[in-house]
Amino acid sequence: MISRKLSEKLNEQINKEIYSAYLYQDISNYYAVKGLKGFSKWFAIQSGEELDHARKINGYLLDEGITPVLGAIAAPDSRFEDLKAPLVAAYEHEKFITSSINDIFRAADDEGDYRTKRFLGWFIDEQAEEEKNASDLVTEYDLFGSTSQGLFMLDSKLGERK
Ligand code: FEO
Repeated sequence: MISRKLSEKLNEQINKEIYSAYLYQDISNYYAVKGLKGFSKWFAIQSGEELDHARKINGYLLDEGITPVLGAIAAPDSRFEDLKAPLVAAYEHEKFITSSINDIFRAADDEGDYRTKRFLGWFIDEQAEEEKNASDLVTEYDLFGSTSQGLFMLDSKLGERK
């Protein structure tokens, strides 16, 4: 049985994952309005993945006999100053999510809750990938985003995401 402290942390993580979905949909909308369909698609797909993450945790709590408690989702701040700003915001957000997952893992470790540690293993791997993807986006924007040709190429590449 998951402790009260751990179940609260997992509930909070559901909220953070749904907020991530909200943030990325907001970024997707920002790029759509700017005419960057590839960037917009990439973030829309990422938004969907975040909802999957939330469902995964929701499912874990249910499997453990705990009713998830769904809290209010904060509104994202969509006032981005330039085309690069959402990419930096996404990278910073992924680092925050990684630290949050690590915090839950640490608590599970302290309690000797091996099942929850095992469950979180998937998220730890996933965060490594998501941080890398977000960091790569910032790097690629710095390399190619300053010219219209480079931006077009990057937008086309991001639009290939399935
Ligand atoms: Fe679900 Fe992007 O962390």
